[in-house]
Amino acid sequence: MRLILAGATGLVGRHVLARALADPRVTHVVAPTRRPLPAHPNLDAPLVDFDALPADAAWWRADAVICALGTTMKTAGSRDAFRRVDHDYPLAIADLARRHGTPVYVLNSAMGADAQSRVFYNRVKGELESALRTRGFASLTLVRPGLIGGDRDERRLGETLATHLLRTLHPLLPRKWRINPAERIADALLDAALDPPAGVHVVASDALV
Ligand SMILES: NC(=O)c1ccc[n+]([C@@H]2O[C@H](COP(=O)([O-])OP(=O)(O)OC[C@H]3O[C@@H](n4cnc5c(N)ncnc54)[C@H](OP(=O)(O)O)[C@@H]3O)[C@@H](O)[C@H]2O)c1
Repeated sequence: MRLILAGATGLVGRHVLARALADPRVTHVVAPTRRPLPAHPNLDAPLVDFDALPADAAWWRADAVICALGTTMKTAGSRDAFRRVDHDYPLAIADLARRHGTPVYVLNSAMGADAQSRVFYNRVKGELESALRTRGFASLTLVRPGLIGGDRDERRLGETLATHLLRTLHPLLPRKWRINPAERIADALLDAALDPPAGVHVVASDALV
């Protein structure tokens, strides 16, 4: 199968990419990025401007898209900038892939995604999910992790503190509040791309521990 992977340089995306390139069922990965990836015979990693994605590129026609794009409010610097990365880019990718005939979309969303939420982050995630539901994919999977576990290059104080807290409380916590390792999320994303369930499918955090 041919896979489009957005966010291949991120914590979850890196694990998806490694798994996809090691999986004999995946014949080709296209990973549009804004910085280069190490070469691999089965990988095409075009450098793109996410504000001006190449609408006519032949590689939009694939068997599935996995999207693990995202930023933080701190890095983005404003609500508008955050929304551009966490909502507009994933939706633009969905629309281009769909227009070129790609039938399957798998989103790394977030626990609490809710278009009606009063929390901005949850609302943006929920609005993206709602918009994707209207795009007519034969299979749409929304993977909703809680706190993601794994090694980041970037320091995120809030997430580090939350990780320590959740690790300490781990035996007492219900499954849905436990840390979701990036590897487990990557497995769920790739499974849904390789064996897509018909219609809309949600994978909750308690399935990602
Ligand atoms: N952190 C958590 O605990 C948590 C919990 C639940 C859900 N999530 C969500 O899960 C998803 C994946 O998370 P993650 O931790 O793997 O993300 P991450 O490590 O921050 O990686 C994000 C990816 O998005 C790309 N990206 C960011 N800003 C961009 C921009 N302006 N233009 C183009 N690409 C951009 C990054 O590319 P570069 O490498 O070029 O920056 C990277 O490939 C995100 O949507 C996040 O909101 C996170």
